Amino acid sequence: MRRKRSVVTDRDLTAVARLPKARKAKSSTVRSVTAARTSVIEPVAPPPPVDVDLSVDLAPTRPGALALRNPVLVASGTFGYGIEYGEVVDVDRLGAICCKGTTLKARIGNPTPRVTETPAGMLNSIGLQNPGVDAVLERYAPRWAGWQVPVLVNVAGESVDDYVAVARKLDGQPGVAGIELNISCPNVGKGGLQFALDPAAAGEVTRAVRRATDLPLLVKLSPAASDVRAIASAIEDAGADAISAVNTLSGMAIDRRGRKPLLGNTYGGLSGPALKPVALRVVYEVAQVVGIPIVAIGGVSSLDDVLDFLMAGACSVQVGTAVFADPVLPLRLIEELKAWCRDQGLASHRDLVGAALPGKRGRPSIKGVEYRP
Ligand SMILES: Cc1cc2nc3c(=O)[nH]c(=O)nc-3n(C[C@H](O)[C@H](O)[C@H](O)COP(=O)(O)O)c2cc1C
Repeated sequence: MRRKRSVVTDRDLTAVARLPKARKAKSSTVRSVTAARTSVIEPVAPPPPVDVDLSVDLAPTRPGALALRNPVLVASGTFGYGIEYGEVVDVDRLGAICCKGTTLKARIGNPTPRVTETPAGMLNSIGLQNPGVDAVLERYAPRWAGWQVPVLVNVAGESVDDYVAVARKLDGQPGVAGIELNISCPNVGKGGLQFALDPAAAGEVTRAVRRATDLPLLVKLSPAASDVRAIASAIEDAGADAISAVNTLSGMAIDRRGRKPLLGNTYGGLSGPALKPVALRVVYEVAQVVGIPIVAIGGVSSLDDVLDFLMAGACSVQVGTAVFADPVLPLRLIEELKAWCRDQGLASHRDLVGAALPGKRGRPSIKGVEYRP
């Protein structure tokens, strides 16, 4: 770009320099000429680049227990136990890893087919296939203990006792940085109800696990709850450190040639971009009633998605389905978020958290007419 030519020439400046001292002090011309000289001689230096701090604490009342270097995590069930991606992804650069859902005993999972693509995402009915908590600790925790990235063990169960038993086994184990409770499983003890659909049940299982372990505890919401705010408040009151929002939405697909449901389990969980607006609504509502950190999940596949979730009230995000198509996406999102903050002059992404919320926490949603079919 061409510099705009100053009306004051170098010859003028030399003339001013020769003026007697007294005249110099009185003359406003002199002052403006001197200012002009400064601007000519010293080009305006660009502001120093902002050193962006992407760190985030997911358990603020347990200092240092779950302090992440950045707010981009990978979602349970989409990143295995972290080890599978080790060849392709530098896992230590991630904010955290949520491993595959872990149960007390091994589970073989649901009949096949277990996954199918949908126009804007996928359906899965893996059925919590996993080797059981003892095998997970034996096979994977020693590797995790050598990593810088914290690994959260995603825990599933069919009764409060199941969850508590798994939490006890995980408590104090090297390599286990925290627990993410997947409470969207059938609650056999309550006649098939899901813990995530009932505030009392959600509070009960959270409280029981809280008593069983000092590990940082995240509890994962279902988007199917009729009022997620009541569930989230119950979870916070029961002592959870953070909330993960959300799990998949129940859906299905048809095998037209066979004239039957496509998935072996008939139903599957919908994930990917189709889920994002629902997840965004859940985060936005929950952020208005809880004070604990919210980790957003649902269709994150670009920087825009990350920014939307932060502005809706989440302090971090998990990338799930998008990892299957692009395993290095989470790492790219970290760099893109950092560059975006720097560009905006933000010292931290935390300055954005809740920017789109309507008012103070604790107030009911004032977003207008709620769509509640
Ligand atoms: C194949 C697959 C397996 C999953 N397994 C689990 C699981 O074991 N536990 C859990 O809490 N969520 C599980 N999820 C849900 C994801 O963690 C995440 O909440 C959901 O997929 C929404 O995020 P996304 O749209 O980015 O995929 C699974 C999702 C997929 C696609």
